[in-house]
Amino acid sequence: APAAATAAPTGRCPVDHAALAPNGCPVSARAAAFNPFEGAYMQAPADYLRWAREEEPVFYSPQLGYWVVTRYEDVKAVFRDNILFSPSVALEKITPASPEVLQVLQGYGFAMNRTMVNEDEPDHMARRRLLMDAFLPERLIGFEPMVRQLARQTMDRFVDRGRADLVADMFYEIPLTIALKFLGVPDEGAEQLRQFAVAHTLNTWGRPTPEEQIEIAHNVGRFWQTAQRILDAMRAQPDGEGWMYDTIRQHLAHPDVVPESYLRSMMMAILAAAHETTSNATANAFHTLLSHRSAWEALCANPALIPNAVEECLRVAGSIIAWRRVATADAVVGGVPIPQGGKLLLVQASANFDPRHFENPDEVDVYRESAVEHLTFGYGAHQCMGKNIGRMQMRVFIEEFVRRLPHMRLAPGQTMEYLSNTSFRGPAALWVEWDPARNPERLAHAPAPQLAAFTIGPPPKDGITRSVVLQAKAPEGEGLWRLVFASADGSPLPAWSAGAHVDLVDGGYRRKYSLCGHPEDRQHLQVVVQREAEGRGGSRHFCDALQVGQRLQLAGPKNLFRLDESAARYVLIAAGIGITPMLAMADRLKALGKPYTLHYAGRSRGQMALLPRITRDHAGHVHLYVKAEGQRMALPALLANIGAQDRVYACGPGRLIDELEALGTAWPEGVLHYEHFSGEGAALDPAKEHAFVAELRDSNLQVQVPADRTLLQALQAAGVDVPCDCNEGLCGTCEVAVLDGAIDHRDKVLTQAERATQRRMLACCSRAAGQKIVLAL
Ligand code: HEM
Ligand code: FES
Repeated sequence: APAAATAAPTGRCPVDHAALAPNGCPVSARAAAFNPFEGAYMQAPADYLRWAREEEPVFYSPQLGYWVVTRYEDVKAVFRDNILFSPSVALEKITPASPEVLQVLQGYGFAMNRTMVNEDEPDHMARRRLLMDAFLPERLIGFEPMVRQLARQTMDRFVDRGRADLVADMFYEIPLTIALKFLGVPDEGAEQLRQFAVAHTLNTWGRPTPEEQIEIAHNVGRFWQTAQRILDAMRAQPDGEGWMYDTIRQHLAHPDVVPESYLRSMMMAILAAAHETTSNATANAFHTLLSHRSAWEALCANPALIPNAVEECLRVAGSIIAWRRVATADAVVGGVPIPQGGKLLLVQASANFDPRHFENPDEVDVYRESAVEHLTFGYGAHQCMGKNIGRMQMRVFIEEFVRRLPHMRLAPGQTMEYLSNTSFRGPAALWVEWDPARNPERLAHAPAPQLAAFTIGPPPKDGITRSVVLQAKAPEGEGLWRLVFASADGSPLPAWSAGAHVDLVDGGYRRKYSLCGHPEDRQHLQVVVQREAEGRGGSRHFCDALQVGQRLQLAGPKNLFRLDESAARYVLIAAGIGITPMLAMADRLKALGKPYTLHYAGRSRGQMALLPRITRDHAGHVHLYVKAEGQRMALPALLANIGAQDRVYACGPGRLIDELEALGTAWPEGVLHYEHFSGEGAALDPAKEHAFVAELRDSNLQVQVPADRTLLQALQAAGVDVPCDCNEGLCGTCEVAVLDGAIDHRDKVLTQAERATQRRMLACCSRAAGQKIVLAL
């Protein structure tokens, strides 16, 4: 049995080898070689861990003494369970202090204790609730004009120069000024704080040599004393404005919840957390956008995309790339047993590139609707409280630059330098250049036009769409139309994988359609739309009104129906228009050389889409069942010999799925995967629904959910931040934990076993079966 991982990295394997078969050591050569303090990790953390995401998603690193978690679902699951995986190690020195270092720190009276980010429940939530107000969007809106003014003044200083190091000239100082203002802390001098912040980062997340450690400890000690001096001055006049003053007042009112030791530790931690993160994230974002010129140009052409671009930048180049937890009991992560006391390094930068979650993850796509699902701000009970301050500043900076210096470029020949540590990532300098004679304000002899109104918070879901042109439209049988789109400006369209869909947005309609063209064709995207005469009008619009040559908006591609490519054998089942994702899967399996059969049922040949292509490309694999010709698809016979090595993928109407689900109860977990027709989606019918109450245990709130609103809408209206994506019960993003009350499940994500536990529900569609439901929110 695995023994507990020890506190200090021992360089040894934590598993008891005596209990294993010979050569059973779970530490692979690559896991043993993993060293985040080498340059490659900082240069491109997601690339550096690509092998792990694919082959060894949770591995033990003997050099670190941590279990390294690299896949999206696993990282999120650990973040979500902050009881089993305690955050108490979040600020622990990853390189244990030598006795000399401890002595130096003691000399400064250093007594870093729990703050918020590393506090356990129930203390953490009680504290977080008391200290939340200043972070609410309505309280932050006033900071936006301040950031904008500072940004403009700072740019004025260098706009005619033609060259700048954006870090030194702008991105370090403005987030610092804003952080101090937000906290209510007097300006302490940027240079000294910068030195302190570097010391704090290296002390907590770095691997300095013993000599360096001594010097760092002196700086950390000075930082501590400076923080205490500031705190004491603030405590002498506790009526000031700012979050640290709020905290001091809450300490006076509730010393049990916000104790003295918290005040002292937080004062130091927040000085680093509130600005370093934002400075780094901004520099990373500009580096990302300028080295992907088409993304930058898309923002210059359409600044409304900037809020989403900020999320995409946080996904591909976040400023916190790994965070820590410790298992409070024996646990399992991604199938790997973690012993009690085992420490976990959750590599968000790797999770954010997981193709199991993000379609086409290696591409920088400012149109990616799911960008906001990145884990850079953490997730769950400890999710970053300051995320909307960081987002807001990044948005303002990008807006000001696309307005005033759209022709700015990265200065050639520079290499990015990063501080060697596990977690904080941002370049030391970022040189850019431009031709001042071409500045739009100079050419127009007028200031660049102002941008549209500003909202605080995650990006609005609407409007994250790209312009495409309908290039071809052809009948595919009775009531079926094949539509082919190309990008409006001729630039390549994003890559996609089998099972992916796009949303077509036009004429007030928005509908999802599975892609069924060839993924390697980056110039076109193809769907087949079934005209539903009795539907709500969307499919009629796309079949009847849309004309070749017309421009429309397209969101995605996104994939909620992924093909597990690791199985030995595949059975694909399609009925009616459900063929489109199945055809894409058949294409993929053929390309992979995997054994597969495709079973396709329809009412008549005239009502079956894409028949010539299917019979041509999948001859020998395809079986057709044409009802008008007396053929029926008999599922029990077809699926008589399904085992763990098989995968059954299906798409079709509800009754097909119901029959499959019934058959699937006899198969091992993970064999059956299906997607309903997305069809026209049902609106809530208030006449058939009942109102109920959602009690939020953590926030101490009662939220009324009326009959005509979803639980998600009611939660969001109450200011509770539950992420959502599809809004139709398809993606699983809006899942909430249920503590009590019966659930009326209406999603298409949870398995029957998961439903039966009555512990999870999808807030966008599922409801309380009774009058009340209690949620862990
Ligand atoms: C927590 C990232 C900006 C205040 C966190 C966590 C991360 C993070 C990864 C830990 C989350 C977890 O354990 O689940 C970032 C990034 C930022 C940013 C990437 C900028 C782009 C800020 C700002 C502030 C702030 C500007 C304050 C003004 C906090 C606080 C917590 C926190 C108070 C602790 C929350 C808790 O434990 O309940 N942040 N942060 N952050 N952050 Fe941020
Ligand atoms: Fe997709 Fe609820 S938002 S399942």
